[in-house]
Amino acid sequence: MSDNVYTDGRAGETAEHGHIKSFVRRAGRMSAAQQNYYAEMMPKIGIPYAAQQIQLVTVYGRNAPKILEIGTGMGETTAKIADAHRDNDYLGVEVHVPGIGALCKQNSRTRTDQPADLRTRCG
Ligand SMILES: C[S@@+](CC[C@H](N)C(=O)[O-])C[C@H]1O[C@@H](n2cnc3c(N)ncnc32)[C@H](O)[C@@H]1O
Repeated sequence: MSDNVYTDGRAGETAEHGHIKSFVRRAGRMSAAQQNYYAEMMPKIGIPYAAQQIQLVTVYGRNAPKILEIGTGMGETTAKIADAHRDNDYLGVEVHVPGIGALCKQNSRTRTDQPADLRTRCG
């Protein structure tokens, strides 16, 4: 195993990091609404995975403070915070695909005349 790759809990335990558990993409079961919002919103707010640096200024089209949230869950809180703080750019990362669908729904709902700068990446 590489020094930086931990596949499961105790196998990756080190003196420095203790018990480390890694998470992988979890497909789960998406509702019809989550699927629809995912299909509608991901082309607008999704950042597809690529093994390279994300050029955030290019992605958001401005040089605003960036907030990274790892593990957005169902996205309700993330979407509300992003909507209430439009001077910041938000990037939410989640491994649970239905959660991304729910985040897409939340972000679609909270959008008024001006969309919040919330983007998401799965994985
Ligand atoms: C307890 S929920 C937090 C939800 C949300 N932040 C909130 O406060 O409502 C934790 C989430 O983190 C996600 N997660 C865990 N490990 C992750 C990882 N390595 N990358 C992205 N998301 C991860 C899980 O799938 C889960 O949805």
